[in-house]
This record gives sequence, structure tokens and C-alpha cells, in this order.
Amino acid sequence: MCGIVGYVGKRDALSVLMKGLEHLEYRGYDSAGVACIDEKAGGLFVLKEEGKLSRLKESLKKHSVVSTVGIGHTRWATHGEPSRVNAHPHTDCKGQIALVHNGIIENYALLKEELKRRGVAFRSKTDTEIAVNLIGDYYRRKRDLVEAFRKAVGRLRGFFAFVILAGNDPDKLLVFKRSNPIVIGLGKGENFVASDVSALLPYTKNVIYLEDDEYALLTRKDVRIYNLGTGKAVKRKPAVIRWNIRQAQKGGYPHFMLKEIHEEPRILEEIITKRIDRRGNVYFDTLGRGADLRLKKIKRVFFVSCGTAYHAGLVGSYLAEQFARLPAGAEVSSEFRYRDPVLHSSDAVILITQSGETADTLAALREAKAKGAFTLAIVNVVGSTIAREANAVIYTHAGPEIGVASTKAYTAQLVTEALFTFYLAGLHQTMKRTQVSELLLALKKVPAACEKILKQSEALDRCSRKYFRHQNFLYLGRGYNFPTALEGALKLKEISYAHAHGYAAGEMKHGPIALVDHKQPVICIAPASKTYEKMISNVEEIKARGGIVIALGTEGDRRLAELADDFFPLPPTHEVFSPILAAIPLQLFAYKIAAFNGRDVDQPRNLAKSVTVE
Ligand code: G6P
Repeated sequence: MCGIVGYVGKRDALSVLMKGLEHLEYRGYDSAGVACIDEKAGGLFVLKEEGKLSRLKESLKKHSVVSTVGIGHTRWATHGEPSRVNAHPHTDCKGQIALVHNGIIENYALLKEELKRRGVAFRSKTDTEIAVNLIGDYYRRKRDLVEAFRKAVGRLRGFFAFVILAGNDPDKLLVFKRSNPIVIGLGKGENFVASDVSALLPYTKNVIYLEDDEYALLTRKDVRIYNLGTGKAVKRKPAVIRWNIRQAQKGGYPHFMLKEIHEEPRILEEIITKRIDRRGNVYFDTLGRGADLRLKKIKRVFFVSCGTAYHAGLVGSYLAEQFARLPAGAEVSSEFRYRDPVLHSSDAVILITQSGETADTLAALREAKAKGAFTLAIVNVVGSTIAREANAVIYTHAGPEIGVASTKAYTAQLVTEALFTFYLAGLHQTMKRTQVSELLLALKKVPAACEKILKQSEALDRCSRKYFRHQNFLYLGRGYNFPTALEGALKLKEISYAHAHGYAAGEMKHGPIALVDHKQPVICIAPASKTYEKMISNVEEIKARGGIVIALGTEGDRRLAELADDFFPLPPTHEVFSPILAAIPLQLFAYKIAAFNGRDVDQPRNLAKSVTVE
């Protein structure tokens, strides 16, 4: 949460910062701000505005600042309400140092008292202002910016990333990372820093990921990395980013979310092609002999993740149990990490995450590793913290996902999990080759089926128009489509703000049936499956009570089509892949309802894409 960006070079710093912030705005949009060295006036120029980046852009038009060094920030508020005074960059009380921050400083209250005693006056309610003043305080005493930075950061507790800039030491940026992501972009005669690579894509593909408790000194010519504790220099080989700038643009669609939904067939096709070799075996380029040896000895599997990725984890646990015949469960990271789970070296903890930076999932990974479990991350963002820290990683290769509501990353997770399950089942010899071949054949047909669903989106358009003013929705599913019900409901509430609740259809009579009336649409996900008849009974029971049913069922299912008020057909597929197909109309349904209600689809209120604080 919060996007930070920094630049030192020859270009117009404000343009670089603003462009970078545009790419990072999905991380938070409560306020935005920039600070740079004003070459004409000398010293720091700071401008910040409450609200979205567009407001800052408007304000900037009133200033003509020449600068080649600066920092910028887009905020998701933690301490202090969204306002101009709480916006970043924050400056120290003497106005010498500016700082942008992502994360939480846990011991800020104690430090604030200490700084107050030393005569520092505070303007904002943020923890950030304490950090910048602590650095400023040391700077006034030490007169050495790097030393002051090291001393001050060493006293801060919590998880955070910073970039600072000093008015009277104007040609450098200092960067620190603990838990929250920081990537440094390497240029010629210029260097960049950002919360993630999307902000760097227009300028460079050569990057260095900072590790925890490292700080970096960036000048035009050089990037030096040091360990905070020892002060020793760290050597790190740059990595090359494979994403391109086109992938991070809307490409003619009104919203990133819609573009990303439409990318799904191609992405799924690419994943399947990449993961199945010429002999029809599933393989993962990032899993070696060591990982195979651990995976062969695994006796239990835990899928641990947050939000949409948690729903993918649920599907993953069903797959692992059915095909690899391993006891499996799925849990949200924030519960797993704190419940002192009993883990052994024969357990696999599979972390599912789009960003690879979610704070709770990262903590769950560390907990699992500390307890000796084998950790495997299924991650979208290459080089992210979770990808780097897990014992093994599998990338989902969905490309950059910008829309706050996850779409293509979710279906990419589902396909990757299915492929991984068949791989695991191969290691555990729990599936016959013919069974794997049949399933892979069915999986290969999934991308075309997704394409077909997207082509039929007018039916969804009509359905969404009919229901977009409704304020309550219930989603029901069973088996592999219980997670689909949860995910469908999550999508709708995230972006339309309607109340939506996902439930296991088998639990309907234990509560949700009380909500059934002629006003609340119930979305029933009922493709062909072993629980199909049970789903039909649920639909009958809802209709018998005058309820409204929107059904998702297999093409040609006349029985369901006749029972339901609205019916959306899904191309036939194997039951285990039906959550992939069912996800797409539900994503579109949520998108259209939100759009008809005039919601900000890509940047829904209060949310941020990457939840890097607890
Ligand atoms: C946020 C996002 C969701 C995402 C969840 C987990 O809530 O809005 O789209 O599913 O975080 O994020 P991760 O990056 O770990 O998948």
C-alpha cells in the first residue's frame, strides 16, 4: 500500500515522478505529493494534494520548477485521515529533508515524545513525520546525511520502505527497505527507485531488488547498497524485467479491469503451452531436483493467501486432495500466521499471491519457513519478496495486473494450481497417465471456452442492466464452485459497493435462506458436476420462496435455464476447471454493475491493490 517513486538524473524530475505515480496509483489514492530540488530557487520544492493524482497534476500546472532530482508518493492512509497535511512527502521541522514512506512505524509514539522534548513541532498525524524528523535531528547533530539516515532508521521498529531527499545535499537519494517492496531502476547517468517495476517500465528494464534491512545510496552515476546493521557494502547482480510498457496501459479499454478480463484467454493459453512439454508432461522451469525431493516427501498441504488469492487457495486445496491424495486445507494468511500452526518438514505451505508483497502472506511464509515446512510460492510479480523468500517459486505469468479487483491473476492462479497438482500427483504417483492426459486435454480447451464466454457478453449486459440498482446479492455454489461463489461476491462488493455474500449452497438452509425474497438476486453457480442435482434443489427451494435466481450452468441445460430468472451458459468442461470458466462472467457481471452505477472500477474506494500493511 502506498506507492513511492524517486529519480536522480538529467530529465525533468517532476515528469518522471508523475508518470511513475500514474503507474503506482493502484497502490493507494487518498492523496499524492512530490518533492524535488528546485534548481532556480534552491532547496526543496514540495507540493501535495488530497485525493487522486489528477488533483496534484492540476496544481502542478501553477508552478514552473526546474529539477532533476525528486521523490513522489501516492497514499493509502494508515495513520491520520486522508488530507493535504497528512499527505507525503513529509519534511522535517527545518524543511531540509523530505521523505516518502510505505508501511507502518510501530514505535512512533515513543519517538514522538522524545522529539517533542527536543523541540520538534509536528504538523500531521502521521508516523512518517516522526521518521523524517528523527533523520533531521541526527542530521543536525552529525552533519552527515548517510550517517544520520542509518542512525535514525536503526531506531525505527515496524515494516516500511522509505526514500529521502535533502535540500542541502541535493544530488542523492537514500532508500531503505524492510518488508515493504523497493526496486531500484538502473539507467545511464540516471537512476530510479519505486515500489514496483511498473513505474520503471518506461525508462529501464534493469533493476535491483533491495532486500530487507538494506539501504541504498542513489546518485546520477551510481547505486550503492549497504546492510543497515553492519554498514557493509552489498554486491547484487541486476535482474532484467520481462514485462513491457504496453502491458501496463489500457490499450483502448475504458478500464484496466475490462482489459485484464479480456486478456484471460490469451494468458491461460500461454500458461498451458509453457507448462506442458512435447511429451505431454507438466513441468515448471523454476522447480529443480531439490524441490522435487521435498515435494515427494510431503504429507500435508496448506494453501495460504488473502483476498481473491485465498479463493484460489481453496480451489487448490480441493485439487490437491482429489488428485495428489494429500490432506489439504486453505486458510487466510492473517489467521494462519497468528494461530501458531503445527507444521513439520513433511508439510508444504503454498503461498498464493499476485503481488508477492502482501504483508500477512509474507509473514505466513516466514512463520512456515521458521517451522521447517517446505514453502512454495505461486506468484505473479517476478522478483517480489515472497517469490524470493520461498523455498521454491512458480510464476503465474499473467503480466502486470493494474485493476484493483483481481481478474486475470485469479484465473492464472487456478490454471497454475491445476497444472501443479498434476505435477505433484506425478511425484506421488496418485494419478494414471491416461487420467492426466485426459485432464490436460480438457484444460487445453479452457482458453477457447473463455473466449466464447467473452463473446457472449451482451447477455451479461442485459442481466447487469436489470439488476444494477439492487443492493444485496447472494452467491451460492458447491464443491469446486463454492470458492467461485465467494469470489463472485467479493468482486461485486469490491467495485460496486453492493452488499454481496458468498455461501456454500449446502449451508443455505442454515441461514441464508432467511434472506430469500423477491428483491434479492441469488446467483447460483451450477455447471455439470457431481453436486449438480443438489444445486438444482437449492434453485427449486429459492424459487419456491419467490426468490430471484441468476444461474450459471452448462450450455444446453434447459432444466436450469427454465427454472432460473436469468441463465448464463458456460461451455462444457471438466468439473475441476469449471471455476475458471465461471469466474469470467462473474467478473464481467461485477464490472458492468459497477460501471452502470458510475463507480470508479479500477480504483474502488478504500481499497488498494497491494496490501503491504497488516
Ligand atoms: C488485495 C487486492 C486483491 C488481492 C489481495 C491479495 O485485497 O485488492 O485483489 O486478491 O489483496 O493480494 P495478493 O497480491 O497477495 O494476491
